[in-house]
Amino acid sequence: MATHAGRLNDRTGPDAGSPAVRVRDLHRSFNEAGGVLNGLDLDIPAGEFVALLGRSGSGKSTLLRALAGLDRDVAGSGTITVPSDVSVVFQDSRLLPWRRVLDNVVLGLGRKDASARGKQALAEVGLAGREHAWPHELSGGEAQRAALARSLVREPQLLLADEPFGALDALTRIKMHVLLRKLCAAHRPAVLLVTHDVDEAIVLADRVIVLDDGVVSSDLRIELPGSRSQADPAFAALRTRLLSELGVEDDHHLRVEDTQRLRVEDAVRRAS
Ligand SMILES: Nc1ncnc2c1ncn2[C@@H]1O[C@H](COP(=O)(O)OP(=O)(O)OP(=O)(O)O)[C@@H](O)[C@H]1O
Ligand SMILES: [Mg+2]
Repeated sequence: MATHAGRLNDRTGPDAGSPAVRVRDLHRSFNEAGGVLNGLDLDIPAGEFVALLGRSGSGKSTLLRALAGLDRDVAGSGTITVPSDVSVVFQDSRLLPWRRVLDNVVLGLGRKDASARGKQALAEVGLAGREHAWPHELSGGEAQRAALARSLVREPQLLLADEPFGALDALTRIKMHVLLRKLCAAHRPAVLLVTHDVDEAIVLADRVIVLDDGVVSSDLRIELPGSRSQADPAFAALRTRLLSELGVEDDHHLRVEDTQRLRVEDAVRRAS
């Protein structure tokens, strides 16, 4: 594990057997008006998938950027321990438009077998045969799959994702959920996924945390048996609880069209 020298933090790599991510007393503020992160503590064990919820402006992206080491121009303090191999996925794919898809995936990889590994990663995300396409020739979902391939080809020990499916339509998003679960089961990185979508958090994560007032205000382990169905009453109870943590009252009496939508989404997820 590498040690990163940071201006803000004591930023180090984890010891053997300790969590992949360890954050202690993390503070971040952009101006004198007040802190965005106010003494946040967080541990993520190796291989664990954590979803991060919180109202808009609660500091989710600020936390993610701090973990990625992308916030050196921001005021703050605290200690951050992360693995040396960290990949970040954002809401937009951030593919370089002047490079073909495979070149984007292997950019900076610096290995003799980079091209073969890049092709394999593209095949894993269902983009075999699109290696020589230009980014503008990909759909939004395909571009996000290429971004996932670019992350996973680096075999990160930590995957940081900031609303990676936020700009995708509902059906593409469900397919991406299935793909991400499969990739994470195969590669076992620790994951911190920022999302606004409570159902997405419950479907994907081992653990869901909520950010409020600059700290982790709620930390919930998701223990649902088998494939997670939105029609399952235990799923609905978790949704209600998390929505309430977010200050949103769930409608216990789902409207007919909501029920139908959930059934369709479940069917698509099972068929994928
Ligand atoms: N570069 C910046 N300069 C000044 N203020 C900032 C900057 N970046 C973020 N902020 C402020 O910090 C707070 C947290 O922002 P952040 O982007 O982390 O929220 P978020 O939880 O990711 O929100 P969203 O769900 O809308 O993406 C917000 O009040 C935001 O206005
Ligand atoms: Mg954000």
